[in-house]
Amino acid sequence: MKKNLKWLLLLVLSIVLLIGYFALQTSFFVMNGEETKNNSNQNQFEQEEGSNDEMISQKENSLPIPPLLENETQEEGKAEFTLNVQHGKTEFLEGYEADTLGYNGDYLGPVIQVKRGDDVKINVKNELDEATTVHWHGLEVIGEMDGGPHQGIDPNDSWTPEFTIDQPAATLWYHPHSLGKTGEQVYKGLAGLFYIEDEFSEALDIPKEYGINDIPLVVQDKRFTEDGQIPYRLTMPDRMNGFKGDTVLMNGAIHPQLNVKNEVIRLRILNGSNARSYDFNFEDGTEFYQIASDGGFLEESVPMNHLVLAPAERAEILVDLSDYKQGDELHFKDANHELMTLYIADEGEGSSEIPEELAEIEHYKEEDVVRSREFVMSGMGPMVTINGKQMDMDRIDEYVNTGELEEWIVTNDSGSNPMGGGMMGGMASTPHPFHVHATQFQVIERNGEEPAPNESGWKDTVMIHEDENVRLLVKFEKEGLFMYHCHILEHEDAGMMGQFLVE
Ligand code: C2O
Ligand code: CU
Ligand code: CU
Repeated sequence: MKKNLKWLLLLVLSIVLLIGYFALQTSFFVMNGEETKNNSNQNQFEQEEGSNDEMISQKENSLPIPPLLENETQEEGKAEFTLNVQHGKTEFLEGYEADTLGYNGDYLGPVIQVKRGDDVKINVKNELDEATTVHWHGLEVIGEMDGGPHQGIDPNDSWTPEFTIDQPAATLWYHPHSLGKTGEQVYKGLAGLFYIEDEFSEALDIPKEYGINDIPLVVQDKRFTEDGQIPYRLTMPDRMNGFKGDTVLMNGAIHPQLNVKNEVIRLRILNGSNARSYDFNFEDGTEFYQIASDGGFLEESVPMNHLVLAPAERAEILVDLSDYKQGDELHFKDANHELMTLYIADEGEGSSEIPEELAEIEHYKEEDVVRSREFVMSGMGPMVTINGKQMDMDRIDEYVNTGELEEWIVTNDSGSNPMGGGMMGGMASTPHPFHVHATQFQVIERNGEEPAPNESGWKDTVMIHEDENVRLLVKFEKEGLFMYHCHILEHEDAGMMGQFLVE
């Protein structure tokens, strides 16, 4: 009897301790301030379709088009730009100004446009009160110019990378990459598009009028507080699966309208979100054509009516609106959540051509592979790892030779995590978008099958779902120290990143 009582007491005590521990954890994760209102009726991801939301008085808004950054030199074959990394105020919700970050402005950044072969110089000035970096995601440049965690720019300091554009036309992007700070700085607004054009893209019969029928689209999700702020506060689930917002912004606007003509339009879409993937489609099922993936044009345009983009992935799509009339509307969606309205404001003589044949891609051959490497993404929350390791700035994980074709086998074993199915209720089954710096690679196999047609072009980020494995062929031409990592920024910040040295 006495013995039983002792055991019972011990059991009760340990339960109390356990509950206390988790309570502490939770309050720690939401510390420094009010809870964000993720249960309010503004939460579009839990909202019933059609339940109208009175909490956000939505601004009457047309899609903001970021400015094209001015090239400061007239010299042929050269380009020079200035980027100021700065604090700003942005009115996402009418009547409320959020504290944000931006390049040359309050939020997001201008579109940088360069030509293949250009010698580019960029004057980056950090006007923040903390260090930052500017990484050119998808660009093939040497390590010192890459803007990774080793190229930190202190407050009030500058950084002037110079490089030559040495890759085909593509829609790339730029964003900060400070160790442990990427998630917050990107979330606050630091992201911009980086276009490369070349003779091929200029000759191709596709829309090219910037902001008119060639539309930049940065898609990001946010979680607003009652007073319209976007604090970056991680809860326990955020640390597990990445920070997902409840409201999607298109170039910084909630559910904007884009006025177009009834012609073919081109959308250059960047999933600039910290952790959310999207399933883009048009409400009326309108078919569209993907013409480019991360690293440039596909070989053929791929007809589809759904496009899935993981964080950091890009796609260019063409939509033929020639069957619509003035006054018609199309609703651009993520699964069944409205993102943006396309309004046919004008009828014109525009094109209704969708080119079928696009770029010529030289496919790597498996028999040329010199070396094979494996990358296993596993763990959960703050314990995410690649090959069992977390990022260490002083450790080089892989040594690579320039010009050698390699096979990289990337797997996500989170599903077989012992914590997975059982007590954590599948919380560990996180997809991991795998990104490699300084290159564009070719996906040759997903789970033993050929990749989808829109994944058969140049890629720098590839989604690896639970228990999936992806084989890719990759080659590096630029020397230096680079990163590979999960592009769920909370995973990257937690250390799901490794370094490789190309020599
Ligand atoms: Cu988009 Cu290592 O980054
Ligand atoms: Cu990158
Ligand atoms: Cu991840």
